[in-house]
Amino acid sequence: MSGSLALPPGPRSFLSIREILALRRDVIGFLNHVKSYGDIACFRLGPQLCYYANHPDYFHDILLTHHQVLQKTWILRRAEDGFGKGILMSTGEAHKRQRKLLQPAFHKQRISRYMQTMIDVAERDSNSWEDGATVDMAREMQRTTISVAAQTLFGTDVADEAQEIGEALATAMDLFTQIKGPFAFFLSNIPIAPRNIRFERAKRRVHAIIHKLITQRRESGEERDDFLAMLLAAQHEDNHEGLSDEQIRDEAVSIFISGFETSTNTLSWAWYMLSKNPDVEEELHCELDTVLGGRLPTPEDLDKLTFTRKVIAEVLRHYPSVYVIPRRVTESCPLGEFTMPPGALVFVGIYTIQHDPRFYEEPQRFNPNRWTSEMSGKLPRFAFSAFGGGPHACLGEHFAWAETVLLLATLAQRWKARVPDGYEVKMNPLVNLRPLGGIPMKLTRR
Ligand code: HEM
Repeated sequence: MSGSLALPPGPRSFLSIREILALRRDVIGFLNHVKSYGDIACFRLGPQLCYYANHPDYFHDILLTHHQVLQKTWILRRAEDGFGKGILMSTGEAHKRQRKLLQPAFHKQRISRYMQTMIDVAERDSNSWEDGATVDMAREMQRTTISVAAQTLFGTDVADEAQEIGEALATAMDLFTQIKGPFAFFLSNIPIAPRNIRFERAKRRVHAIIHKLITQRRESGEERDDFLAMLLAAQHEDNHEGLSDEQIRDEAVSIFISGFETSTNTLSWAWYMLSKNPDVEEELHCELDTVLGGRLPTPEDLDKLTFTRKVIAEVLRHYPSVYVIPRRVTESCPLGEFTMPPGALVFVGIYTIQHDPRFYEEPQRFNPNRWTSEMSGKLPRFAFSAFGGGPHACLGEHFAWAETVLLLATLAQRWKARVPDGYEVKMNPLVNLRPLGGIPMKLTRR
């Protein structure tokens, strides 16, 4: 059978009030319930028809084969008014041009130039921690990743202004998430108007500072090595046109918001998992002590920190920051034996596939040692999809690996962190999979 207009199975055609409340309480529980109907399931959020895919082959179809008729959702299109027309918000031909223009800045070799900044920022934050203090680790990791994003984008010499942009963008992003996340309409209890006002205020602040930095840089004519320098020098291949100040600003905002929260979440969950799995923590310390022997990491150490990388890989599997990828169907589109009509939403179920026993043994167990080269070699393409795939696959993947591994190595070399006994951190899946209510952790110097 091919192209059936029948709907796939799913939790009834419309969600009852009870189910909507259940979704509000536990998004991941709801997605687990949906996928129990099959590798393609369907449900409705109010009038909105939604498909849910839970198989690597269907991820391939959605992200690659049919990408032209499956576009980024209204969530991101509406984000244009908030975050401009940078790569994260664009689709189709405009996106292709933007991606071509930005790609060289994310090349592996280029990332190596940012690694020292990552290590320096982690060392600064490590020096500010106090033995015996209790901190919110999610907040700490946010501070660190904001600094890394801000300084690699705008330069280390304007660290204060860069930090201010970072913090204002983090506020804007936070408010945006609550107003317009994938399930925000169903999840938010709080009146939207005051948030919109605060959001607009944060956005205006960001724009003003970025424009000031662009003007300063253009006037100084200095040769530099950060993302801003690359954006100022970039030219489209076809007409050799450079970017206007507004375009540079929007690309900088796009790069910033794509990168900082995903890395924050990954590192926060990593600390939580180390606290809950002392055997893993011990193996990590053993690697750090052997490879680094008490000195700070250098960019050259990245490839030697193989277990640290496995810890991050397992965190990305267990707590994928992007836990679903939503797409809007713009023209009728096949998915397995079904046909999705225009207007439907389709979700790529990253969280559920990465906990699927068909692909991962003991999927609920946090086990970095599962990531042998033999296992990775056997894993079907898209069974690990933390960085997405196809034309919109994460542009910052090399950056993200370098950042998470080097920050964790620099900090965990000197510090242990523990959640209180019996304390369980719940997931808070908004646009990204955050820890709910932060992660209170007691620091102990190693
Ligand atoms: C652990 C950290 C990260 C994770 C898990 C992650 C994950 C993802 C995913 C799943 C997508 C695809 C979204 C979609 O298809 O709709 C994406 C896109 C993107 N990411 Fe990342 N990301 C991370 C870090 C970063 C960093 C550090 C940067 C920049 C420095 C970055 C820049 C981008 C950009 C620009 C896009 C949009 C690409 C496009 O549409 O062409 N990401 N990311």
